[in-house]
Amino acid sequence: MIVKVCVGSSCHLKGSYAVIENFKKLIEKYNVSDKVELQASFCLGRCSTGVTVLADDRFIDGVNENNTEEIFVKEIMSSLK
Ligand code: FES
Repeated sequence: MIVKVCVGSSCHLKGSYAVIENFKKLIEKYNVSDKVELQASFCLGRCSTGVTVLADDRFIDGVNENNTEEIFVKEIMSSLK
């Protein structure tokens, strides 16, 4: 799965750097580095609900520093084969 975290200006201001750092740690913690590829992305066009994450072709809105793990488990781990 390719997980793109928006680093456009709006999402950047809402903490996308911290979200990326959290995702990196979670990928290690859950030992899924062979299944999840983390990328940064330019604006994904959903600035008002950012930080925006795109997991393959599925948008996940409202990610922040504090809910990253919850979202990772619910939206990403559950979709991995
Ligand atoms: S800046 Fe992230 S969706 Fe626009």
